[in-house]
Formats: sequence, C-alpha cells, structure tokens
Amino acid sequence: MKAKILIVDDEPYLVRLMEYALKAEGHEIITAGTGTDAIKKAETEKPDILILDVMLPDLNGIEVAQYLRAKPEFVHLPIIMLSALAQVTDKIEGLKAGADEYLTKPVDLREMVVRVTMLLERRALTQPKAAPPASRGKIITVCGPKGGIGRTFTATNLALALTKTVSRKIMLLDGNRQLGDIDLALNLRQTRTLADLLARVDRLDAELVRTVMATHSAGVDVILAPAHLADLQPVQPAAVRKVASALLDMCDYLIVDTQAVIDDFTETFINIADVIVLLVQAEISTCRNAKLLMELARSDGQTLDNLIVVLNQFNPSDELQPADIEKILYQKIAVKVPANHELVQYSLNRGVPVVVSHPKQNVTRAIFQLADLVASNDDKRIAPAGGLFEAAGSLFGRRTS
Ligand SMILES: Nc1ncnc2c1ncn2[C@@H]1O[C@H](COP(=O)(O)OP(=O)(O)OP(=O)(O)O)[C@@H](O)[C@H]1O
Ligand SMILES: [Mg+2]
Repeated sequence: MKAKILIVDDEPYLVRLMEYALKAEGHEIITAGTGTDAIKKAETEKPDILILDVMLPDLNGIEVAQYLRAKPEFVHLPIIMLSALAQVTDKIEGLKAGADEYLTKPVDLREMVVRVTMLLERRALTQPKAAPPASRGKIITVCGPKGGIGRTFTATNLALALTKTVSRKIMLLDGNRQLGDIDLALNLRQTRTLADLLARVDRLDAELVRTVMATHSAGVDVILAPAHLADLQPVQPAAVRKVASALLDMCDYLIVDTQAVIDDFTETFINIADVIVLLVQAEISTCRNAKLLMELARSDGQTLDNLIVVLNQFNPSDELQPADIEKILYQKIAVKVPANHELVQYSLNRGVPVVVSHPKQNVTRAIFQLADLVASNDDKRIAPAGGLFEAAGSLFGRRTS
C-alpha cells in the first residue's frame, strides 16, 4: 500500500534516514522542520500519514497533533509520534493529543516501517468507503455486417433525435478509419479529426478534444474521420479505448458510427459499447453475417443484453419477412426503419438529416423510436411537447397533448 507520508522533525540527518527507509517501501515523502510548517504541509499536501517529532523549534508535536485533530479533515489521519522522551507520562500526553502510535528515539527504522504499514492497512479497513464513481456516460455503437447498410444515416439521425429525447450532452464520433462521411451527412467542416486524437493518445484532454470537435447546430459535438487516406496509421485497441474514454468524459452519450470492415478498430468500438445498435437488412447473407457479428461480440465478453436490432430499408413486400430474420438471429427486431430511398438520399446528399428536415416522415418516426429505446431508463428524458415531435411521441404511446 503506497502512501504520501509527512515526516516532521528538526534533525535533518534523522529525517533523511526515515525518508530513505520509507521511500524504499515505495512511499512518497514530504518533510517539515517546524510545527508551523507541519500544519501548512498537512493542509496543502493532504498526507496519508504523519510522523511527528515532539520537540520542534516553534509549536511542539503535541500542539500540532491537537490542532490537526480538531479539524474534521484530519480526524482520521494516522499520526505516529516520535520523541526522545521515553517517560510513560509523555507517551500518555502524546496519545491523548491524538497520536495513534508513539515511538521513542533512537528510532528503530524497521519498527517504524512496520508501524506505518500497520496504520495504513488499518485505516484502509476502517475508512468510510469512497462514494461510488459518478455515473458514466454511455457508448452507443452503431454497426452492421456490410457496407452501405445505413450506419451513417442511422448514427447521425440518432444523435440528433437524442438531443430531443433526453437533456443530455450528445457526441457523435465517425469511427471510420478511412472514407468517413459524417462531415457530408451533417454538412460540417473541420480540418482536425480523429487522426489527431489517435496521434496524441497520451496527451488527451478536454482542451485537445475541443480543438478537434465540430459542432452541429442541433447541439451535437462531432469528431470527424481522418480526412486523408495518408492519415491512415496502424491503431492499437488501447488507443481507441483511450480516445473513447476521453470523449466520454465530455458527454453523456457517445454515438459511434462504425466502418463496414470488422477489424480490431471496429471490434474495439463493439467491445466497449454500452448499447450496440446492429443494423440488418432483409437478405439472407446479411442476416447470417449479422449473426457472426453477434458471435464475435459475445466471444469478446459482450452479454448482448443491450443489443438493439434495427431492420433498415424495410419493405413489407420483401421476400424475407421480419419473423424470418428474427428466427435466423434468435433475436427480436426492435425497430423497423422503412425503405425511403428518395428521402434518405436527398437528406444525405444535402447534409440535412431527416430528423431536422422531415420530422413527420415514417423513417424519422422509426429513428425516434430507436432514440427512445437507447434512452430508456434515463431520468433526464424530455417530455414530448407536441408539434414537431407529436408524431414521434404518439408512436411510443406518450402523451402528446
Ligand atoms: N432507410 C433507408 N431507406 C432507403 N435508403 C437508405 C436507407 N438507409 C440508408 N439508405 C441508403 O443506403 C446508402 C448507404 O447509407 P449509409 O451511408 O448510411 O450506410 P453506411 O452503412 O454508413 O455505409 P458505409 O459502408 O459507406 O459506411 C445511402 O445511399 C442511403 O441513401
Ligand atoms: Mg458510413
């Protein structure tokens, strides 16, 4: 158990000896030579344990311990008091002032190291458990078993639909290592891209991410795909995870549009997903390959509890019916997005998502249905206000008046 230890003593030689012995155990050491300095360092450095000499030039160790113990933040700070005064009465005075242990000088360094270790272990057991981490955002990976199945259309519209479904920060990532096209689908310009983040994985912070982000007028932050084929560098899954994690620190929902090729890069986005949106089409080969994709996700440890199967370009006259697809996949189809070539092409070509331009169209209703599923259980859902979203609301059985 490594700790930050504050050693307070006015004998530099002894301080150096103790520092040496404790550093050898992997601890971080800070030192102070007076009582006042000890209090200052305790307050600024927040040590895990305090080794405190009694005889100090200004405030003595007893006074320092009493002062610190009176403050709520130091009530549990382990204190080892150190002094040449070996009288029992002195020890009692030190313990009464709040010391947990009392060592007499000359200090046996081995004993001191053991006492430090014991105190740290005891504190770890008795300290109130840290509050659970603040709830983390969700990664929603939109994937599919073949090119052109509608990932970009779905991911872009889903991101925009979510801004109307939940009061949450939504970010969209073009997870295509090459030839991504979210810039066109949303009519966005940005010279810096995902390539810039992947090239700086060890220095990722909010400031850097902001320089790479483009923002859509609907309020979605977007990270675009590498702009040039020459930007294509080998990428390790660990780098992808770091980028996703840095982005997730800045949003509540990170929607990832993936590429058709299922390589390590795409597989990582599937592995780290909290929700997988799997697109299928009414074709035997596509459904068989969707099943293979599910198997891959499962073999990587995904339970698929949060899998949402979306049948895209659905046409009721298709030979392969939804019930047939469900039998092939052993999985329910959650959303059917109707085929509407004219509208979808119009929208993608102009860079205006259907959620914005055609809120009442059947395709858009299906996207809102998907957004509703993604955001289910979210306590920050926006109550539908009618008007623009009346159609979508009524589809989900919401009150729309
Ligand atoms: N519901 C739909 N109805 C009609 N056409 C659709 C529908 N969804 C997608 N398309 C069409 O499919 C084509 C591919 O769509 P999109 O670019 O979203 O797919 P993708 O899976 O992202 O493709 P890529 O493999 O290039 O990344 C587009 O021409 C689009 O118009
Ligand atoms: Mg695409």
